[in-house]
Amino acid sequence: MSATPRIPIPEDLDRPLPMTLPRLAEKKRLGEPIVMMTAYDFPSAQVAEQAGVDVVLVGDSGAMTVLGYPSTVPVSLDEMIMLASAARRGLSGPMLVADLPFGSYEQSDAQAIASAQRFVKEASVDAVKLERGGTSVDRARAIVGAGIPVMGHLGLTPQTATALGGYRAQGRTAHAALELARDAQLLQDAGCFALVLEAIPAAVTEALMERLAIPVIGIGAGDATDGQVLVFHDLLGIYDGHVARFAKRYADIRSQMVAGAAQYADEVRRHVFPAPEHFYSIDEGELRSFREGLPAAH
Ligand code: KIV
Repeated sequence: MSATPRIPIPEDLDRPLPMTLPRLAEKKRLGEPIVMMTAYDFPSAQVAEQAGVDVVLVGDSGAMTVLGYPSTVPVSLDEMIMLASAARRGLSGPMLVADLPFGSYEQSDAQAIASAQRFVKEASVDAVKLERGGTSVDRARAIVGAGIPVMGHLGLTPQTATALGGYRAQGRTAHAALELARDAQLLQDAGCFALVLEAIPAAVTEALMERLAIPVIGIGAGDATDGQVLVFHDLLGIYDGHVARFAKRYADIRSQMVAGAAQYADEVRRHVFPAPEHFYSIDEGELRSFREGLPAAH
């Protein structure tokens, strides 16, 4: 017996098609800007979905923005998988990419493949992202070879910020910019489907764009890239820590959250909340019987 084909309902037809690798490449070809933002849980992923972004990144920036670590370095693969799983449950349209955290891919190709596979099996991510060139090029090639799409990340790579001299712009000398160009080419040749460029001079990005065929997403890399990415907590004004020069705030949610929580605390203390409209009622007769059934108060 053949299965009855499901007839699409109008709601389905209105919904944009899920983002795929070919659609992302098509966006580059058509010159349609790619919108990417981070999300780390169910509600932030739902916000990204409803805002119609193309790619959601469960960035290891979540180590700082949601887990409170001082840098991205301490976050574990287990913690990242937990965040990615929650984000997955809030998404259907955007492509979901997760950051391989520091220490989960550098040792060997086998380690990199095993970590990427855990993300796919346990959090249903569409792709993983890893930082740097050098040995990461081999890791990227190995993961792609295992059938998992990989996004590269060059420029300011926070996992190795100490070695880069801190959280500062990269590629500002001819030598450093040429290294960047070489790494970008190598990551593309290794099979990466896209590349993030973070905190590099806009003019260097422009030169790289002429040579790269894969979609390039920028953050602090000027406006010549195929798309932009921002951290959820930076763009909505939720994070209280240092905000990079390249992050633009589109809202000031944190002050609204603090004001709301402070008003709640004030109303509880002044017996304004809860008010009768927040109470549940009980039938008069039931209440009488209940009171009669209670043991005498001391
Ligand atoms: O971890 C992150 O949020 C990132 C983006 C800044 C690209 O890697």
